[in-house]
Amino acid sequence: AKTRYHDFFIKESNYTRLCKERTVLTVNGQFPGPTIYARKGDLVIVNVYNQGDKNITIHWHGVDQPRNPWSDGPEYITQCPIRPGGNFTYRVILSEEEGTLWWHAHSDYDRTTIHGAIVIHPKLGTTFPFKKPHKEIPVILGEWWKADVNHLLEEAERTGGEINISDANTINGQPGDLFPCSKASTYKIPVQHGKTYLLRIINAGLSNDLFFAIAGHNLTVVGTDGHYTKPFTVKHIMIAPGQTMDALLEANRADGGRYYMAARTFATHPDIEVNNSTATAIVEYMDDTPARGLPEFPANLPGVKDIDSATAYTAQLRSLGSKDHPVDVPRQVDERMLVTIAVNVLPCAPHETCGGPDGNRQAASLNNVSFANPSVDILGAYYRSVRGVFDADFPNKPPFFFNFTDVDNDPVERWATKRGTKVKVVEYSAVVEVVFQGTSILGAENHPMHLHGFTFYVVGRGFGNFDEQKDPATYNLVDPPHQNTVSVPKAGWAAIRFRAANPGVWFMHCHFDRHVVWGMSTVFIVKDGKAPEAKMMPPPPNMPTC
Ligand code: C2O
Ligand code: CU
Repeated sequence: AKTRYHDFFIKESNYTRLCKERTVLTVNGQFPGPTIYARKGDLVIVNVYNQGDKNITIHWHGVDQPRNPWSDGPEYITQCPIRPGGNFTYRVILSEEEGTLWWHAHSDYDRTTIHGAIVIHPKLGTTFPFKKPHKEIPVILGEWWKADVNHLLEEAERTGGEINISDANTINGQPGDLFPCSKASTYKIPVQHGKTYLLRIINAGLSNDLFFAIAGHNLTVVGTDGHYTKPFTVKHIMIAPGQTMDALLEANRADGGRYYMAARTFATHPDIEVNNSTATAIVEYMDDTPARGLPEFPANLPGVKDIDSATAYTAQLRSLGSKDHPVDVPRQVDERMLVTIAVNVLPCAPHETCGGPDGNRQAASLNNVSFANPSVDILGAYYRSVRGVFDADFPNKPPFFFNFTDVDNDPVERWATKRGTKVKVVEYSAVVEVVFQGTSILGAENHPMHLHGFTFYVVGRGFGNFDEQKDPATYNLVDPPHQNTVSVPKAGWAAIRFRAANPGVWFMHCHFDRHVVWGMSTVFIVKDGKAPEAKMMPPPPNMPTC
């Protein structure tokens, strides 16, 4: 294994999108940011210099970081932010991951423009479990706001109201031909007839699940979230924020031509208005076929509200389960948790006027706890046994039961949640099963739930209320997908399992950023085991202070 070094300079740069120039935070002036290339098992050292004017942290999304929560990145969870003028050296320890992951800022809404791909190749002497592609192309799906997002965020936090949705989806930073002033810079992928391309697709967006398709071509999915899948061929994929999908594109059109690659919002929330949401890029054959008029648009790209297409896609994800990439789903469960996911409200303080539902403050919760960021990081407080920073009583089940998913019957009286910094403590190596239960409070929708520090198996998914008598019998314990972000279906549930053999402090949250801001998160603390290799590493000397 090799050690690879990178310098990340956080700085402001000007970018023009949607007819308007704007100053955005970038890494090294690039948006999307630089791609990190490595091989399985490498150590990547990234020195981050904050040359911007606000606090920042960086997270290595999907990297388990064995025993090393110190470099995980979420602000106030595992570190204090890097202040303007400061720097911090992250040690990104790759272990089991192979495929596509990504890195992003983990402070406020900074990840809107501070993100990039992590490409992890097989170890030297080993190879892909599929035919070597001619080329590999990161396809980073994102979102663009015409306004300064952190200002929108501050405004929303002040009023307790909603946060404006973005003005465009993007493909590798570009909205594409369907948006004003965008055509000249639409992202283009040149291809050669007869070759196969590996698309490393990342949903780096803040608030949209996305459908993705290429006109006139199928996609063969071979991996997700840094782990291989059994290959399956589809006309479109669905990818939630936080997820990655590796897909082979065969440039098999003998007639050549130009084809749109399109990413369209998949919106499950009943009230979300989606206008002009489809980002496009162009796949163009380089052969000497005469240039034609407009590229073809993918006829099979599902509509904005097509839940059935999303469900059918997601149901096909299976771990590869080969000799080199075995599946090992834990059979015995030590900690069972049922965790309700809700968008709800907090009461507005007497002296203020709030812009949330019915004059309340917009909030969100897990098991009716709306997570409040502490003012110093939880990891440091845990390591030094500082009291008063967090409580170790995050509940294993919701405080009360009701018909969680009855969409017609919003349980108004249960809207109010409570704020708290509650964590769940588990023993080293305990097997944890979390059943995420969607609710219909303030409208049911999909939630991409993400866990730091672990890749979990998604053993089950379903609609309605989880039935602990019947539903476990439907689990896939043979070849469930290995992921770090699970799309919990609208008015439904999803069950994950993982072995907590990674001591440290690990954030778990919805990957819709507005939900994180509202409190849809919690933290796992995994205790040290007895053996020296079951203990957390000591902190590096240069941890930022709060
Ligand atoms: Cu992609 Cu907590 O992060
Ligand atoms: Cu959510």
